[in-house]
Amino acid sequence: MEMIQSQEQITPMPRIGDEAPCFKAVTTQGNIDFPEDYAGKWVILFSHPADFTPVCTSEFITFAHLEEKFNKANCELVGLSIDGLYSHIAWLRTIREKIEFNGLKNIDVKFPLIEDISMEVAKKYGMVQPNESKTQAVRAVFFIDPNGIIRAIIYYPLSLGRNFDEIYRALIAMQTADKFNVATPADWNPGDDVIVSPAGSCGVAEERMTNTAGLDCKDWFFCTKKMDKAEVLNAILKK
Ligand code: BEZ
Repeated sequence: MEMIQSQEQITPMPRIGDEAPCFKAVTTQGNIDFPEDYAGKWVILFSHPADFTPVCTSEFITFAHLEEKFNKANCELVGLSIDGLYSHIAWLRTIREKIEFNGLKNIDVKFPLIEDISMEVAKKYGMVQPNESKTQAVRAVFFIDPNGIIRAIIYYPLSLGRNFDEIYRALIAMQTADKFNVATPADWNPGDDVIVSPAGSCGVAEERMTNTAGLDCKDWFFCTKKMDKAEVLNAILKK
């Protein structure tokens, strides 16, 4: 397993395909047993540097506004920072009572925010990256599937607010790949053509070039097919 080494500690970095590390935690919505409590659902587990900071505040307002949209895609949101429960509660109250961002105001953050003063969870997930900050988590985004497997990870530095369209797009693209056994090309969004798995043998490669019903093959290794937006969304989103 790869390591990030600092003078004080060696932190294992969870990787794509690994089981999500287990933990029990106190959150703003009560105690959680992770990932067990989320079996059968996708989870976006994300960290932020600190409560009462502006970029984080803009992200929380945005995520809270989008929570229902993520829930419709069978996905729960779980946040974390290296702060205590009372700081979390005070910050979320302030967000609801005072802060407006991008026209969004009176926003109630209903998803759990983990208190992690001990940094136990942040360290398990490689969210503390000492050359960026020794005391604050970076902006990590872990996509964990219904079987508790880490499927994608995005890390951002402290100063860079996340792109929530991309986070949602990545979630839907992975669900589409799972459901239809396809891959999704650059900048894919529902309604765009999908990539058919590359030919794994000379016979299939030959067939790809001769029997192309329903496929658009530019070469034996590059075949796409149409996939209706409604077909994708009906298969993925809860009614
Ligand atoms: C922020 O969320 O505004 C922030 C947090 C840590 C460092 C820089 C910005």
